[in-house]
Amino acid sequence: MEARAMAIAASLFQMSSAMGVNEPLSAEDKVIKLPGQPQVSFEQYSGYISVDKMKQRALFYYFAEAEIDPATKPLVLWLNGGPGCSSVGVGAFSENGPFRPSGQMLVRNEYSWNREANMLFLESPAGVGFSYSSDNSYYGGVDDNMTAMDNLVFLQRWFEKFPQYNNRDLYIAGESYAGHYIPQLANLMVQFNRREKIFNLKGIALGNPVLEFATDFNSRAEYFWSHGLISDSTYHIFTSVCNYSRYVGEYYRDSLSPICERVMSQVTKETSRFVDKYDVTLDVCISSVLSQSLVLSPQQVTERIDVCVEDETVNYLNRKDVQEALHARLEGVTKWTVCSSVLEYELLNLEIPTISVVGLLVKSGIPVLVYSGDQDSVIPLTGSRTLVQRLANELRLNTTVPYRVWFEGQQVGGWTQVYGGMLSFATIRGASHEAPFSQPARSLGLFRAFLTGKPLPEAF
Ligand SMILES: *[C@@H]1O[C@H](CO)[C@@H](O)[C@H](O)[C@H]1NC(C)=O
Ligand SMILES: *[C@@H]1O[C@H](CO)[C@@H](O)[C@H](O)[C@H]1NC(C)=O
Ligand SMILES: *[C@@H]1O[C@H](CO)[C@@H](O)[C@H](O)[C@H]1NC(C)=O
Repeated sequence: MEARAMAIAASLFQMSSAMGVNEPLSAEDKVIKLPGQPQVSFEQYSGYISVDKMKQRALFYYFAEAEIDPATKPLVLWLNGGPGCSSVGVGAFSENGPFRPSGQMLVRNEYSWNREANMLFLESPAGVGFSYSSDNSYYGGVDDNMTAMDNLVFLQRWFEKFPQYNNRDLYIAGESYAGHYIPQLANLMVQFNRREKIFNLKGIALGNPVLEFATDFNSRAEYFWSHGLISDSTYHIFTSVCNYSRYVGEYYRDSLSPICERVMSQVTKETSRFVDKYDVTLDVCISSVLSQSLVLSPQQVTERIDVCVEDETVNYLNRKDVQEALHARLEGVTKWTVCSSVLEYELLNLEIPTISVVGLLVKSGIPVLVYSGDQDSVIPLTGSRTLVQRLANELRLNTTVPYRVWFEGQQVGGWTQVYGGMLSFATIRGASHEAPFSQPARSLGLFRAFLTGKPLPEAF
C-alpha cells in the first residue's frame, strides 16, 4: 500500500516536472517547522550534501535565510572549530543562529545573524555532528587539507541545490580552530576561481582564531597573570621554564617532559578548574559552548565534565522529532555530540601557521577581519593583535583606522584598528571565546559593519 502510494507520488512528481512545474532541488531540504519553534517569517533548510564520488561521505548543513529580503542579502558560511566540533550545535543553536533551545521549546535569538545575512551552518569534517562517512576508516587521521577539500566540494554542490545563491556575495566567518579551516578553504576558492570563477568571495571574519600556534598559545601566560589567575612566580616559570606551546606540542607527541608537567600542574592548580578559561569572568556553564576547543586546552579535558551538568542543545538535537524535522540521522554513532567522538583529527596540524595564508588572501584582494572576545584566555586578544600587526607590517599595509574604540548602542563595543582598508582587527568588550553567545548585541554590530565593509562605528 505504502509502496504504491510512493510510486504514485513519484510519478506525479515526474509529471509535474514534465509539465514545467519546477520543484527546486532545495525543496526536499526545506524545514517545515522545528519542534517547539515560534512562528517566523524566514525559511529554513537542512540536510545532507554528498562530498565524494562513492557517496560515502556526506556533510550536514542547517541554513537559515535572512529574516527580511533574503534575495538582497549576502550568503555567510559559518564554521566552528575544535577541530571536530559542530557549527550547528555551537554556532546555530548557541551563538548566532535564530533560535536557542530552552527546555522543550526554542526561543528566538534577538541578535541572530540572519537579521543581516543568509546563514549557512556546516558540520565539518565528516564525523562531526550529523555529518558522516559510511567508511569508518576515513575518520583516522583527517587533516586540514582533507577538511578544506570537502568544504570546497560541499559548497560547489550546495550551490547546485540552491542556484539562486550562485553569484551572491559570499562571506565566511567562524571562530577558534576555524582560524585554520577558513583561510585554507578561502585559499582553495581563490585558486579554483582562477580556472572558473564560481565563488564570489567578499571577505572572511575570524573570531579568537588559531593563526600561529606559538604566538596564540603563549599569550595565555600573560593573560592569566594580568587577570590575576596566576602568581608572579608561576608567570615566571610559565614563560621561561616551559611555555604553553611547548607543553601542548609535547602533550600531542606523547612525550610530556617532567618539567613541563610540573609547570602545567602549578598553572592548573592556581587558575582553578572552577574558572572558565573561555571567559575568565563568566560564571554560568553551557557545555556545548565550553567544549568547542577541547584540544586547545588538553589538560582540562577531564576536568570540565563535572562542572557542566546540563546542556539544552545536546538534549534538543538528540530528540527524534527534531532529527526528523531537520532531515538528520545518526550514522555510525548512537548520539549527536557537540564535539566528535569518532574523528581522530591530525592534531599536530595545530602547529601549521595559517597567518601566512591570511596574508595571501589579503594580497588577492579579500578583506579579512580578525576579532577577539576580550575575556578569552584560550586564544587571547593579545596574541591575535600581535599577529595582525605583524602581518600588516609584512604586507606594508599602513594604518587606515588608528587604534580606537567602537560603539554599539551607547556603549563601547570594543577597540579596532584597520590596515590598508583590507586587514582589520577588533575586540569585543566583555565577550568570551564564543563572542556571539556572551555578547550578542556587540557581536551583531561587528558582523553588520563587517558585511558593509565600513569601519566600525566611531560614535553613537
Ligand atoms: C596540504 O596541502 C599543501 C598544499 O598542497 C601541502 O603543501 C601540505 O604539505 C599538505 N599538508 C598535509 C598535512 O598534507
Ligand atoms: C616557547 O618554548 C619554545 C621551546 O622551548 C621556544 O622555542 C619558544 O621560543 C618559546 N616561546 C616563547 C614565546 O617563549
Ligand atoms: C605608508 O606610509 C609610509 C610612511 O608614511 C609612506 O611612505 C607610504 O607611501 C605609505 N604607503 C601607502 C601604500 O600609502
